[in-house]
Amino acid sequence: SRNFVIPPLNTGKREGKHVHFDLNMQFGDTNFIGNATTPTLGIDGDFLGPVLRAQRGDTVSFAVKNKLDFNTTLHWHGFILPADMDGGPHQEIKPGETWQPEFNIIQPASTNWYHSHQHNQTGEQVYRGLAGMFIVDDEVSLNAGLPTDYGVDDIPVVIQDRSFQKDGSFRYMGSMMDRPHGMIGNTILVNGIVTPTLKAQKQALRLRILNGSNARIYDLAFHDARPFVVIAADGGFLPAPEKTQSIRLAPGERAEILVDLSDGRDAILANRPIKAQRGNSGGMMGNMGGRMMGMMEQDQEAFNVMRIQAPANTKQTQIQLPSRMLALPDWQNTPPATTRQFELQMQMGPRMMRAIMSGGKPFSISGASMDMSVVNHRVKANSVELWEISNPSMRAHPFHVHNTQFIVLDRSSSNGQSKAITATEKGLKDTVLVSQGETVRILVPFPEYSNSEILYMYHCHILEHEDAGMMGQFTAEA
Ligand code: C2O
Ligand code: CU
Ligand code: CU
Repeated sequence: SRNFVIPPLNTGKREGKHVHFDLNMQFGDTNFIGNATTPTLGIDGDFLGPVLRAQRGDTVSFAVKNKLDFNTTLHWHGFILPADMDGGPHQEIKPGETWQPEFNIIQPASTNWYHSHQHNQTGEQVYRGLAGMFIVDDEVSLNAGLPTDYGVDDIPVVIQDRSFQKDGSFRYMGSMMDRPHGMIGNTILVNGIVTPTLKAQKQALRLRILNGSNARIYDLAFHDARPFVVIAADGGFLPAPEKTQSIRLAPGERAEILVDLSDGRDAILANRPIKAQRGNSGGMMGNMGGRMMGMMEQDQEAFNVMRIQAPANTKQTQIQLPSRMLALPDWQNTPPATTRQFELQMQMGPRMMRAIMSGGKPFSISGASMDMSVVNHRVKANSVELWEISNPSMRAHPFHVHNTQFIVLDRSSSNGQSKAITATEKGLKDTVLVSQGETVRILVPFPEYSNSEILYMYHCHILEHEDAGMMGQFTAEA
């Protein structure tokens, strides 16, 4: 397989605590498979963007230039920031224009990302390449004794799935099933390379894994079932490291893990099939039946994501794991100011098809499909709310909220039985998976930023669901 590629690191132009980034959204050409050239989109490159890196306490400013010939936006996923800096569908950048947001980084060290959020076109624009990782450091993260050497032992891992046409171009939404499922590709890319091999330089690696896929949910594990340690979720460090053998990551979610290669054996990171429901562990690349699978099973194929070659004969490097990492913030004990319910809905069968054919929106949240002119909720700045997200539909949906990092309180199934909170759900989060029949309760803090006109989004992070209406808007008001 091809060599793993570390995305270029962009730490901006720094003057004291002010850091400026120039970013260009542009067309590109990329070779993914054989000799074929794929027309792609990128940020300062042909496909995807650089890994941005800044520190808590910095003021970051950007000049984001749209060199494309269509409207786009750039959203800072995971960031707590004023609504007009968020880069959602209301902050459109027209071709030739430059958008200049600026905000203070007020949140803890975390692995975040940025991506297009163009109204009705987020799925296609992200699929073609408008996305990248954005790392925040802080005093805790830099002094925790964890790997922090970018590209050496601190490795970005952006996982995405894509499908291709015969001529090498991306295949996007070619089949009717891509609507209800979201766009599931048959080829796995890591940082834009098909199932690459990373030649590790260190025995202890920190992988910052981002599920940047449009719709695919992964259950990641090593082929030899070696244990690894989860140290961080979407919004930063967990209260304590969690040893596990697998993690589930839905689109939009991140996890930082520590992998130990001191046994000298190669480690293959793979998607684990859920055997109880599907006895087939055939490789995905040859398994074109994958697309025909039922909606409940589509994410449960087995396939490799990347290979890590252990370094030869190096001295054993031990990581001292901090026993406590980040205490969950005080606001977890604040009684919620308000409780809100969100029901994730999708039409099924003929009704779904009729809605698609008529250009309607077959997806909604609590009866409302995304409407740019409707304010679905008004929250109070500087408050904590309880949100209950339920999913009576036939598919799991990752629910994402802008301008916050929340705590997952609990999860229950339709008969009221409580279900597990996973390792990656024990820290601060901005995206949480709500499976069929489940209700997940989250405690959502909103910062001091207020604006009664400019909107934040909440939505399903399956981008085709978002584009087809499974999204709503809220203001945060004084
Ligand atoms: Cu990553 Cu509103 O999105
Ligand atoms: Cu977001
Ligand atoms: Cu969805």
